[in-house]
Amino acid sequence: MVTTNLNPPSTTASTTFNLKSYLAKRATQVEAALDSSLPVVYPEQIYESMRYSLMAGGKRLRPILCLATCEMLGADSAIAMPTACALEMVHTMSLIHDDLPAMDNDDYRRGKLTNHKVYGEDVAVLAGDALLTYAFEYIATQTQGAQPQQVLKVIADLGKAVGANGLVGGQIVDLASEGKAIDEETLTYIHMHKTAALLEVSVTSAAILVGADVDVIERLRRYAQRIGLAFQIVDDVLDITATSEELGKSAGKDVAAQKATYPSLLGLEASKQKADQLIEAAIAELAGFGEAAQPLVAIAQYITARTH
Ligand code: IPE
Ligand code: IPE
Ligand code: MG
Ligand code: MG
Ligand code: MG
Repeated sequence: MVTTNLNPPSTTASTTFNLKSYLAKRATQVEAALDSSLPVVYPEQIYESMRYSLMAGGKRLRPILCLATCEMLGADSAIAMPTACALEMVHTMSLIHDDLPAMDNDDYRRGKLTNHKVYGEDVAVLAGDALLTYAFEYIATQTQGAQPQQVLKVIADLGKAVGANGLVGGQIVDLASEGKAIDEETLTYIHMHKTAALLEVSVTSAAILVGADVDVIERLRRYAQRIGLAFQIVDDVLDITATSEELGKSAGKDVAAQKATYPSLLGLEASKQKADQLIEAAIAELAGFGEAAQPLVAIAQYITARTH
């Protein structure tokens, strides 16, 4: 794994950059944008169900990554705000569906009852459908200041990231692997698709919208793939080491459901080490961006340091 060559951005970031206040400021902007993206109109039942999960909190990591990338590349983050909101809509859809009895069968999410526990399974399925489709509509109708072909590329890339060769592909192999002994290659496929694909497009979409060069987009893609895989490894670790109160969702459910996870395959310590190595390698990709990369460096470090 890469150990040298990363010191300039990482040390600078940890000494001078206040991640906590950065995340809080960004989350507040995202909350306000999400709030105004989805008014309740007729038929109220579906809008209320969509808003229940969309406005339930959460770290807002995907929109924050999108906005932070936009700013690192020197553009006004307003260009990326509709895409940032759309990423959170897609993510929220994936959580509502992931929690359904037919999938992970969870009762709590973001510290509240899951969508289907409040509104019923029929409404929860439809709320996910509506959030997913609205996300694409929202990028197409609300993005300002970007070239039409760049908006089109973002829409295409998001579709790919969420579909059968992306998040859905990862989810289907995740479900098919319950109770089975799978190899690391299959587990990496699951995590790269069910989780890393959406983090990847959260970063690359911003680079596309601001018209970044291909080599910049590819460097950022590698950064995002690495933090994306690390993110799901840490989610697997926290499922074992954190409490339900800390997580806002039921802890210990992966072992109970016999899920294929990094800790189940490699053990807890090796999983944590793997996540640390991925974060180091992700930060190495940002070396050429200098001071401007501080938020993305600090966000990468937060992925392994987080407690929920
Ligand atoms: C949970 O995502 C689902 C995974 C992909 C691991 P987050 O941990 O980002 O959940 P929220 O958005 O903060 O609730
Ligand atoms: C979820 O993975 C990935 C998604 C696409 C939602 P998990 O099933 O481990 O996520 P949690 O632990 O329920 O948040
Ligand atoms: Mg799941
Ligand atoms: Mg789950
Ligand atoms: Mg999990």
